[in-house]
Amino acid sequence: MHVDMKECSSLQAGHPFRQRCAHSAYSHARLQQEAPVFLLLLDCVWQLWRQFPLALGFSEALLLRLATEAYASDYGTFLCSSHQERCALGVTDNTHCLFRALLRPGERDCYSNPLYEPTELAIWPSVHPQALQLWRGGLGQLGVGLAQKLRKQYGIDNVILSDIKKPSHHVFTSGPFVYADVLDYKHLRELIVNYRVTWLIHYSALLSAVGEANMAQAREINIRGLHNVLDLALENCLRLFVPSTIGAFGPSSPRDPTPDLCVQRPQTIYGVSKVHGELMGEYLHHKCGLDFRCLRYPGVISVSAPPGGGTTDYAVQIFHDALTTGHHECYLRPDTRLPMMHISDCHRATIEFMQAPESQLSLRTYNIAAMSFTPEEVAQEIRKHVPHLKVTYKPDVVRQKIADSWPMRFDDTNARRDWGWASAFKLEELVSDILRSIRDKRTTDGLPAS
Ligand SMILES: NC(=O)c1ccc[n+]([C@@H]2O[C@H](COP(=O)([O-])OP(=O)(O)OC[C@H]3O[C@@H](n4cnc5c(N)ncnc54)[C@H](O)[C@@H]3O)[C@@H](O)[C@H]2O)c1
Repeated sequence: MHVDMKECSSLQAGHPFRQRCAHSAYSHARLQQEAPVFLLLLDCVWQLWRQFPLALGFSEALLLRLATEAYASDYGTFLCSSHQERCALGVTDNTHCLFRALLRPGERDCYSNPLYEPTELAIWPSVHPQALQLWRGGLGQLGVGLAQKLRKQYGIDNVILSDIKKPSHHVFTSGPFVYADVLDYKHLRELIVNYRVTWLIHYSALLSAVGEANMAQAREINIRGLHNVLDLALENCLRLFVPSTIGAFGPSSPRDPTPDLCVQRPQTIYGVSKVHGELMGEYLHHKCGLDFRCLRYPGVISVSAPPGGGTTDYAVQIFHDALTTGHHECYLRPDTRLPMMHISDCHRATIEFMQAPESQLSLRTYNIAAMSFTPEEVAQEIRKHVPHLKVTYKPDVVRQKIADSWPMRFDDTNARRDWGWASAFKLEELVSDILRSIRDKRTTDGLPAS
């Protein structure tokens, strides 16, 4: 079976996308008309794709792209609720078509299935519950970029990237990639032994907002997964890096500034699991000599991959909105101050910290800081480049509550003193760099740049 992407556009004519996907996938406010019908359709196609890996001409990446675009898109393909409405508003004349973009040679290669074998025979999928699997997808916001930087320093073949999700064509061809589930202890051990691993950077986690919506899964991945990694690091004498976060603090911590050592009573499963990680790592360092290293990252701002469901995600989305619709609806209050960092500072801090001699480290868990801003302040800075940006505020109860319990500013004196940490990006540089990167990417993709 082969699906021509153009055929998919007939689906858009007959489906009320505006009503069904009115809010972002992470929104907690639901309208009556809202329903993940399109997502369910994509899931059905994915179940077919998994049961018949040779039968479909496209890859899982295409389904993930469509799922993302249905909720937030640079294209007009999923606008409005009917064909009539689309014609009346001139959507086809005034916007770009996603499917046409996906058919360009470079894009097409990323989304085609290399195993595809056309057949005239009908396929009969099994609908037994045992035959259906949970669908996950997409690699992490931070991992891919860090692997790229490490490969530049240590050689492509010396850095192995792993995840439970299928990598994009680009990631798969840019260096070694293996499937590894942090919950599968035996398989992780096999990989560590076979690849003669010496450093382990453990990024797998469910982030704050997603974790709150899936408490049991967050506990499993963030705590049981961490224990597997700690045991393996100990057993194989690895240097282990585990990131922590501003979310490891709670409302009873000093918030402005927050020092390295103070009360930590977070109110999310994400925060609780991160404090657990910090304490277990430090305990095993003192008791058994484990070379455990942990940095508490602020909210990280990047454009290369979509954010993974954290509370600071607005600070990424606002840049895209500024250059597309010119309007950003913020799920936090305008005065919500949080520590933030450019992704290249985050990667550099991680590498410098991993390279620091043990003798320089007076702590095993450090805060790192770069800047701290509110939605209003970042919007003001963006308006210096995009004067027409309009921001409206519709605080989301869950995310606002999380943000109100987090540090407003990080004190990173110890990191600066012990291993020479210094950030390169302040708000001004961050804003112009992120806007430039998004503009460049849009130009490469053949989209209008502002
Ligand atoms: N992004 C930020 O702003 C930020 C801030 C502070 C700390 N951190 C920490 O940095 C780390 C990476 O963050 P991110 O933004 O890249 O997160 P992300 O959600 O984008 O990526 C997490 C990755 O973990 C993978 N994963 C989930 N379950 C897994 C399993 N069972 N086995 C193996 N992999 C699994 C996912 O597939 C995903 O690719 C996390 O530990 C996070 O807590 C991130």
